[in-house]
Amino acid sequence: MTASGDVSLRFVRLEQNHAAVMAALEQACFTLPWSAAQCKAAFDQPAFMAFGCFRAHDLVAYISVYHTSDELEILNVAVTPRERRKRIGRRLLTLVLQIAHELGISKLLLEVQERNYAARNLYEKCGFMRVGARPRYYQDSGEDALLYMYELRDMSEC
Ligand SMILES: CC(C)(COP(=O)(O)OP(=O)(O)OC[C@H]1O[C@@H](n2cnc3c(N)ncnc32)[C@H](O)[C@@H]1OP(=O)(O)O)[C@@H](O)C(=O)NCCC(=O)NCCS
Repeated sequence: MTASGDVSLRFVRLEQNHAAVMAALEQACFTLPWSAAQCKAAFDQPAFMAFGCFRAHDLVAYISVYHTSDELEILNVAVTPRERRKRIGRRLLTLVLQIAHELGISKLLLEVQERNYAARNLYEKCGFMRVGARPRYYQDSGEDALLYMYELRDMSEC
């Protein structure tokens, strides 16, 4: 799998044997990270897919999703701190939009913490529309979850 831009980056579909490096990345990016066991278990579910971005041998970013035949939910997008603001998040989202398109999926959904402005800007830049909110959804911060949706008929590279 290739993508335009920084040629030293490689984008690949992740497999169960990547669970440990996924968990290390989660640890670097989230206050409630998935453990290696949770990452490993996710791959047992046929609806789960994850795609990673490697610089040399290091996993520097990843995106994970669940999908049915007509909906895809983005679970997590994470870019290791030293690699942020290099458009890697955008490239991962674009990759998922392309894959959803190839699978004939019409709708993408995600939830994001209200105060996660970096992620909200990323999603909005990629064309996701805010469609609702779940008040005080996150137990750790008490923040609302904002719901975003993307309809594939509007697809354009972000
Ligand atoms: C959110 C995250 C994935 C963005 O990844 P990234 O590779 O740095 O994002 P990109 O470089 O592709 O940026 C794309 C757009 O997102 C927005 N953005 C990214 N980081 C931002 C920040 N710190 N502040 C404000 N806007 C930001 C900008 O609009 C940016 O476009 P621009 O570069 O033209 O200004 C990254 O900050 C991250 O891993 N955060 C921690 C994990 C997380 O919160 N994930 C989301 C869970 S829902």
